[in-house]
Amino acid sequence: MPDIGFLNGRFMPLEQAMIPVEDRGFQFGDGVYEVIRTYRGIPYQLEAHLARLERSAQAIGLSMPYCVPEWREFVKEGIRLGGHDESKVYIQVTRGVAPRDHVFPAATSPTAVLTVRALRPLDAALRATGVGAATLEDLRWGRCDIKSVNLLPNVMARQKAKEAGAFEAVFVRDGKVTEGAVSNVMVVRGGVLATAPEGERILSGVTRSVVLALARQEGVTVQEQAVSLEELRRADEVFLTGTTVEILAVVRLDGAPIGTGRPGKLTGLLSARFQASLG
Ligand code: PDD
Repeated sequence: MPDIGFLNGRFMPLEQAMIPVEDRGFQFGDGVYEVIRTYRGIPYQLEAHLARLERSAQAIGLSMPYCVPEWREFVKEGIRLGGHDESKVYIQVTRGVAPRDHVFPAATSPTAVLTVRALRPLDAALRATGVGAATLEDLRWGRCDIKSVNLLPNVMARQKAKEAGAFEAVFVRDGKVTEGAVSNVMVVRGGVLATAPEGERILSGVTRSVVLALARQEGVTVQEQAVSLEELRRADEVFLTGTTVEILAVVRLDGAPIGTGRPGKLTGLLSARFQASLG
């Protein structure tokens, strides 16, 4: 089945989708994005992702080329054209193509890109055993709530984590856990589920919201409050949430075991509830 590209309103084979070198996404990282996956061929939490795309664009003063109903149709059409069992959809909107100048160009239309690829699920063995994570200083800018394409700190952090034999990097700012390079971080201690509050220091994850709602439904006490690095190290359970990781147990932190060193009970329960919620 083909991988699908979409550029400014036109679908094409992915390898034919080309961006001019003066696109501001390429020159400045001047753009925003979303990653959406399907379950049973249906884009998961599509409305939440499109709403966040609009919020991100608005936050950087980027006027969106399409409204939500148009995006919705493009995403569905891309998935249909790809014909994959499960798809991973990437959307990117940049401020468009213009001679290089930091100031916004006067009359340039945004560039809209969509790619649809076959979803490669995470290795089942990793999911069963849990993963390692490495803590790193959060060097990102002050607006991590905007899903901007400026991902260099995330790229560097995830590479460092990989080199340390870990799956994910966990960012720490001023002694407090913010989030992962590609995920939100949840910490369980004494049956209470804690995670960094929404705000400018984290991306408000779509999966994060779903999982917190499931936890509350299960009667779990949820604290959207800062968690210190020390509390993270002493946690009973830690897990990641995100479109690509879903719910993924962290069983080692900087080489030391978390809790029993195996995926914890609440992580298992919420994973089961999450899977069941997918229908
Ligand atoms: N990233 N935090 C960060 C920094 C992220 O990049 C992501 C997702 C998340 C989880 O958000 P959500 O549950 O809405 O996927 C949290 C995507 C998958 C990526 O950049 O590939």
